[in-house]
Amino acid sequence: MQKVLGLVGSPRKLGNCEIMVKEISRQITVPHELNLLRLADFNILPCRGCYRCLPLGKQCVLQDDLITVLRAMCDVDALIVAVPAYFLSANACLKRLSDRGLSFYNHSEKLWHKPAVGIGVAGVAGKEGFTLLCVQSFLKLILAQEKASRIIYGALPGEVFMSEKNKKAAADLASALFGPVAQKFEPSCPVCGGDTFRFLGNNRVRCMLCSISGNMTLEHGLPAFEMNRSEQIFFENRQEALKHRDWLLGMKNDFIEKKAVLKKICMTYRQEGQWIQPPEKTPKGNRK
Ligand SMILES: Cc1cc2nc3c(=O)[nH]c(=O)nc-3n(C[C@H](O)[C@H](O)[C@H](O)COP(=O)(O)O)c2cc1C
Repeated sequence: MQKVLGLVGSPRKLGNCEIMVKEISRQITVPHELNLLRLADFNILPCRGCYRCLPLGKQCVLQDDLITVLRAMCDVDALIVAVPAYFLSANACLKRLSDRGLSFYNHSEKLWHKPAVGIGVAGVAGKEGFTLLCVQSFLKLILAQEKASRIIYGALPGEVFMSEKNKKAAADLASALFGPVAQKFEPSCPVCGGDTFRFLGNNRVRCMLCSISGNMTLEHGLPAFEMNRSEQIFFENRQEALKHRDWLLGMKNDFIEKKAVLKKICMTYRQEGQWIQPPEKTPKGNRK
């Protein structure tokens, strides 16, 4: 029996993200149990950028629910991640978790190449902004093997299944999860499958998912990409991902070396501006 975790990014109960995850689960033919985790129910604090979670065997110093979420991701065989588009991006529940990504490296053994599918639900066709990129980047950061990712449309809770089209999308994602990586029919990066690019001039582009650059040409009116595979490909394999952690650890040493000079730069800005403080809390933790 396989274990699948549905990470639901929307705070809305029985909203489109939740029912999409459940529909995908219904359509998975492999025997499995579905565990669900609504990110909004968990206290995930903003990363403080202290890098203290990076060395082997260490974990994040923040006292919150990250470790529960991480364990839930480690303890399953596959993941379904569904998030709503909020203001042209994946909502902040996913971003808060992504931002804690430095903590994922020390769980790479369990997370590496876990099959995963991603869904972004947007209310208005064409107004999803970079939601899909956020979902795909999240899957990359948690070191998962992205089998397929899709944007689907539906605004009101339940609306995604007012048409049969999204049931078909759920079926496709369900068969991709424990099957081969879904084939891409839209123009995409031949290295990572990303479909968001920055135009660098002279037909050069950079893929915003794997971060490597390449050339874009038009073939029969459709963009085709030839990427420069000699550039460092982000998280190409587990060793590369761990190299990234080592590089970050190296940055810490770099920081220690340059600390005095850096401090001198920062201190000149110390007195500038007036900080607005949050309201004080009462002993019960409520705002005054
Ligand atoms: C604060 C907020 C911002 C939103 N921004 C967008 C947006 O930029 N583009 C879009 O297509 N839909 C947007 N939507 C619509 C949601 O993506 C849509 O209703 C989706 O179905 C929500 O998923 P849920 O039912 O799982 O919560 C927004 C919704 C909210 C509440």
